[in-house]
Amino acid sequence: MKPDSMRGMKLVMALCALVGLVTVAVTLAFGRASVPAPRTAAATSPGGPGATEEYGKRLIAQTSEYLGPDVPNASMRSMDSRLACASCHIGAGLEPGNLSLATAFTRYPRISPRSGGNETIQDRINGCMMRSMNGRALAEDSPEMVAMVAYLRFLSSQDAETGAAQKKAHEPAAFKTPNRAAHLKNGEQVFSQRCAACHGAEGAGLAAARDLIHGFVFPPLWGPNSFNDGAGMHRVLTAAKFVKARMPLGNPDLNDDQAFDVAAYLNSRPRPHKEGLEQDFPDRAKKPIDTGYGPYADPFSVEQHTFGPFAPIEAFYKNAQKPAK
Ligand code: HEC
Ligand code: HEC
Repeated sequence: MKPDSMRGMKLVMALCALVGLVTVAVTLAFGRASVPAPRTAAATSPGGPGATEEYGKRLIAQTSEYLGPDVPNASMRSMDSRLACASCHIGAGLEPGNLSLATAFTRYPRISPRSGGNETIQDRINGCMMRSMNGRALAEDSPEMVAMVAYLRFLSSQDAETGAAQKKAHEPAAFKTPNRAAHLKNGEQVFSQRCAACHGAEGAGLAAARDLIHGFVFPPLWGPNSFNDGAGMHRVLTAAKFVKARMPLGNPDLNDDQAFDVAAYLNSRPRPHKEGLEQDFPDRAKKPIDTGYGPYADPFSVEQHTFGPFAPIEAFYKNAQKPAK
C-alpha cells in the first residue's frame, strides 16, 4: 500500500474509534442530571489565580499539553512520557469502576505500603507523576498540583451529593487470576488481533497530531512515551484487571485468560526504567505479589512474581499470616 493511502486508512480507523469515544464522552458529560459548574479554588488556594478545578480537569485530560516534554517553557516539563492521566483514569477519572477517581480524594491521607510512610493526596498524585507519567514530583504549592487536588476534591463532593459511587460501572465481571503462568505467545496473538488496530503494531500508539505536545489519540503501551517499570500498570494483575474492565475501549469483552496473557505480553515489552525501585515497600510482606522487582519476603523468583503462577505466592502469604502454634 502507498504511504498515502496507508495514512488515509489509519485516519478512517481513528475516526471510527473516535466516534465511539465521543459517544462515551457525551454519555459521560450529559448522563448526569445536574452537574454543578466547577467552582474556583483560586480564592483560597496558595496556588493563586489559575489553580482552578477547571484547570485541574484539563491537566488530567490533556496532561502532555501542560506538563509534557514538548511544552515550550522548559520549567514546566515535568514528565518524559506523553500519556495523559486520563489515558488510564478514563473520562478524566469520572468513569465509574476500574481506576475511577470519583472518590480518590476521600481516601487520603493514609499509610502507603509502597513508601511505608503517611501518604497525602499530593503524594499519591506525585506517585503517578513519577511512575505512570515517567516524570518528576510537582511542588505541593504549584498551581498545577493545587488545581488537580481541587478537581479531585470537587469529584468526591459531587459523588457524595449524587451517590455516583453507588452507580454500577458497566463493565465485565471482575478479573479472576488464572492458576497458571501467563502465555506470552497467546498474549501477543490477542494483542495483534484486538489491540494493535488502535495502539499500533509496535504498541507505540497513534499521536493526535504531528506535534507530539498534543499527546495521543491512542496512547503508547510500551516504549519511550509510555509509563515506566515502577508504575502500577506495570504489574500484570493490575493491568489485567484494567484491560478486562476497559479494553478494547468501548467493547471490553476479553475473558480472564486473554486479559492475563495480553497484560503479560505488554509487561514483557521494553519501557523506561525507574531507579531505586528496590527501596519500594520497605515492609516486603506488603509488596503486591505481582511486583516484578525484588527484594521479596518470600522465596519465589522475579520471573514468577512477574508472570505467575500467582496461587503459590498467595498461599505462602496466607500461611505466613496464620498465628504460630
Ligand atoms: C499508566 C496508567 C496511569 C496513568 C497514566 C496515571 N495513573 Fe493514576 N493510577 C494508576 C493506577 C494503576 C493506580 C492504582 C495504584 C495501584 O494499584 O498501585 C492509580 C492511582 C491513582 C490515584 C489514587 C486513587 C485512589 O482512589 O486511591 C490518584 C489520585 C491518581 N492515580 C492520580 C493520577 C494523576 C493525577 C495522573 C496524572 C498526573 C495519573 N494518576 C496518571 C494508573 C495510572
Ligand atoms: C478502539 C481503540 C482501542 C482498542 C482496540 C484498544 N484500546 Fe487500549 N486504549 C484506547 C484509548 C483511547 C485509551 C486511552 C483512554 C482514553 O483516552 O479514554 C486506551 C488506554 C489503554 C491503556 C492505558 C494507557 C496506556 O497507554 O498504557 C492500556 C494498558 C490499554 N489501553 C491496553 C489495551 C489492550 C491490551 C487492548 C487490546 C485488548 C486495547 N487497549 C485495545 C483505545 C483502544
